[in-house]
Amino acid sequence: MVNVPSEFPDETKAQLAQVFDWFNANVSKLESAYRDLGVKFDNISRELEEKNQRLEASVRETERVENQLRSVLESLDSSVIMIDTDERVTLFNNSAERIYAMKPEEALGKAYAEVFTSQADSHFPLIETLRNNHNLLGHEKYWKVAGAQKPIGYTASVVKDRNGLVLGAVEISTDLTQIKQLQNQMQHAKTLTALGEMAATVAHEIRNPLAGIGGFAGLLERDLDSDDPRRSLVKKIVQGVSSLNKIVSNLLVYTRPMEMQVRRVDFVEWMEDILRYAELEIEKDNKQISIVRNFASEKMEARIDPEKLQQVFLNLIFNAIQAIEGRGAITLKAAWDADDFLRVSVIDTGKGIPKDIIGKIFNPFFTTKEQGTGLGLAIVQRIVNLHGGAITVTSEPSQGTRFEIRLDSRGTVHG
Ligand SMILES: Nc1ncnc2c1ncn2[C@@H]1O[C@H](COP(=O)(O)OP(=O)(O)O)[C@@H](O)[C@H]1O
Ligand SMILES: [Mg+2]
Repeated sequence: MVNVPSEFPDETKAQLAQVFDWFNANVSKLESAYRDLGVKFDNISRELEEKNQRLEASVRETERVENQLRSVLESLDSSVIMIDTDERVTLFNNSAERIYAMKPEEALGKAYAEVFTSQADSHFPLIETLRNNHNLLGHEKYWKVAGAQKPIGYTASVVKDRNGLVLGAVEISTDLTQIKQLQNQMQHAKTLTALGEMAATVAHEIRNPLAGIGGFAGLLERDLDSDDPRRSLVKKIVQGVSSLNKIVSNLLVYTRPMEMQVRRVDFVEWMEDILRYAELEIEKDNKQISIVRNFASEKMEARIDPEKLQQVFLNLIFNAIQAIEGRGAITLKAAWDADDFLRVSVIDTGKGIPKDIIGKIFNPFFTTKEQGTGLGLAIVQRIVNLHGGAITVTSEPSQGTRFEIRLDSRGTVHG
């Protein structure tokens, strides 16, 4: 009950008391409403904070996922290019830069057709995919990249958001150059193997009758008087037989399975024997060719199959002798590589190898010589491969030729 001053009339007192009561009641209602509000406010700010935290976490997560996606994209071996619905490039990863030989700034934000116009003549599978809303899987294209026709395997797909709205199209492509090369090499190797097998059969078939002819011609020669004019004819037969024999045994060397017999040899001393023999042959041919020795040191120990490798260097040196008309020089260079490989070069100042045939010289039976068998370099390559090595050739027409052999000096034996 509120105290109302006593000088007020009773009626007023009662009214005032009512007003105060009402006032008090409302104040306490207000107070409780305020308390409720406080609680609600607390709840709301707690909720807000939680929401904030969740939002932050989700932003961080989005960033993380985005970074991860970006790293994945950038470290992919395949090129990834995306265009938007305006056919502008919106994504161009590292591999795209490498495969299409183009900087990202040359592509990003630009019209796809313009960016690639010099590489493909107005045929753009990615744009087709976008326009026709049709994915292309596992296709191949040849694009002009850095002056060469580059084989590219690609997949083009339409990119849609969760609601099926088209955002653009993405093309994932890989450079097939190496795979194509390997395929060609495989094909080549298969052909050579089949050829080799056939050659071996023929060589075997020829060997026996050839031995017969040689034998009978020998008998005939013995029976003829020394002044008989037919003797020179028989001599020609014997010579023919001997050159055929050479071809046949070369063929058999090339096709027969080879067993490696690796030994530790003093490479320089061993090579000196070969070079002396070559010098005798040069003398016999009446040629003016000097042999230059260029060895990294006086003693070079190597693990090789000396008999087989001898054939390699004899073949290379004889080819060099035959390539030099008149005067010239043949240089034998040998040195260790940093990684323990023995690098041996045979360099001549001969007529060189024309560009259009240099890719064929290691093929069996490829020869430009009237008396050639075309088996020399095929045998060389085979023996070098057996040594786990590799042979390369560089040549400048009318300047000379250089064959370089890289041998695993530790003598790992392959095949
Ligand atoms: N040093 C060289 N200089 C020029 N041409 C070469 C040389 N070595 C090889 N060639 C070319 O490679 C071909 C194949 O050589 P090879 O396999 O030894 O067979 P062949 O000597 O019986 O012709 C030769 O016919 C020749 O055209
Ligand atoms: Mg030869």
